[in-house]
Amino acid sequence: MLKGKHIILGVTGSIAAYKSALLCRLLVSAGAEVKVVMTPLAKQFITPLTMATLSKNPILVDFFNPENGEWNSHVKLGLWADCYLIAPATANTMAKMAEGVADNLLLTTYLSARCPVMVAPAMDCDMYAHCATQRNIERLRKDGVHFVEAEEGELASGLVGSGRMAEPQHIVDAVVKLLAEKKKRTLDGKHYLVTAGATIEAIDPVRYISNHSSGKMGYAIAEELAERGAKVTLVSGRTALDKPAGVERVDVLSAEEMYEACVARYDEVDGAVMCAAVADYTPQQVASEKIKKGEGDMSIALKRTPDIAAELGRRKRQGQLLVGFAMETQNETANAEDKLRRKNFDFIVLNSLRVEGAGFRGDTNVVSLIDSASREDLPLMTKREVAARIVDKIEKSL
Ligand code: PMT
Repeated sequence: MLKGKHIILGVTGSIAAYKSALLCRLLVSAGAEVKVVMTPLAKQFITPLTMATLSKNPILVDFFNPENGEWNSHVKLGLWADCYLIAPATANTMAKMAEGVADNLLLTTYLSARCPVMVAPAMDCDMYAHCATQRNIERLRKDGVHFVEAEEGELASGLVGSGRMAEPQHIVDAVVKLLAEKKKRTLDGKHYLVTAGATIEAIDPVRYISNHSSGKMGYAIAEELAERGAKVTLVSGRTALDKPAGVERVDVLSAEEMYEACVARYDEVDGAVMCAAVADYTPQQVASEKIKKGEGDMSIALKRTPDIAAELGRRKRQGQLLVGFAMETQNETANAEDKLRRKNFDFIVLNSLRVEGAGFRGDTNVVSLIDSASREDLPLMTKREVAARIVDKIEKSL
């Protein structure tokens, strides 16, 4: 239900913090990757070791690691997340959130997060009913924060009333619903081809030529298209990623295999997004046995691979959309604009290895969306957010 989703679980200093252990386990079981941020006081109610073990990630409490000075970037954390869930949330934390106070990592992350924020309050019934708390909840609702209402029952104080943190399963259900609602099935009935990952060009049975693509950018695009209702065929070079839910994956290795897979399917689709890092050259000969090393140097003769995107650009029919990528290290704009024209792309996504946080392997990218009439420079975002912006542009062109 939450497969591939990134969730920050914020834990504050409430007796209900013991329930966040189960909550964390349920989120992980539902497929989410969870990073836990705790306030200093929360550590007194539940140990970081418990939460680290359950979330399978180190716990974040301080702005930096006092042992080695390593900075815990709340900005990166906020960009990474698909949802920021604060459970339990005390009256104190909600008051600070409403005021924009930023005196701990949980709060700075709240101010940096671009994803939906969900809060599960927990406190004594009189504190919960107090007009100050209700005023803060109302202000946070107006700021776009989502709430899982506190439930009625016996409280730690011995009183009975409303203020118990909602049961962990109810909170998980609310997160699933929230993330599903965020997506509107605007691409129902459409079919897209997406290429992703690195191609592998064999030299001999042991060695190959490849590149650093992890497939994350292309897989994020495939996921985004599928979540908006499109049928997606993902032609994937080598990656370590799992198949995204609801996507048909065609595994290939070489540029030649990727070419065959794409050309065979292009007629059926409404568009294609060419995100794979495809080798431009491949060995002229693939040795059938492992090449033995000799005394001197050696060289390998290479030949050009087919340009898949250019071929799809030639075959593009009226109404079909072709989106390309450009991975550059110099003269970025000129090279991207040249590829836009030469390969007959409707628009191109430029990313540069010279920009920190952009390109291969990481969870973020910095891209420009360029078409023949306009250019949009996007800031540092998660690859999921970049994918959403690319798919927004695809939707606009329909
Ligand atoms: O996979 P990640 O680790 O998340 O990294 C993402 C990425 C950096 C791989 C991705 O953002 C990206 O930039 N992909 C394109 C990489 C690339 O090969 O760019 P290029 O400028 O060499 O190629 C231009 C376009 O032609 C691309 O759309 C490419 O898919 C396509 N191409 C290139 C060569 C070829 N033989 N056939 C092609 O279709």
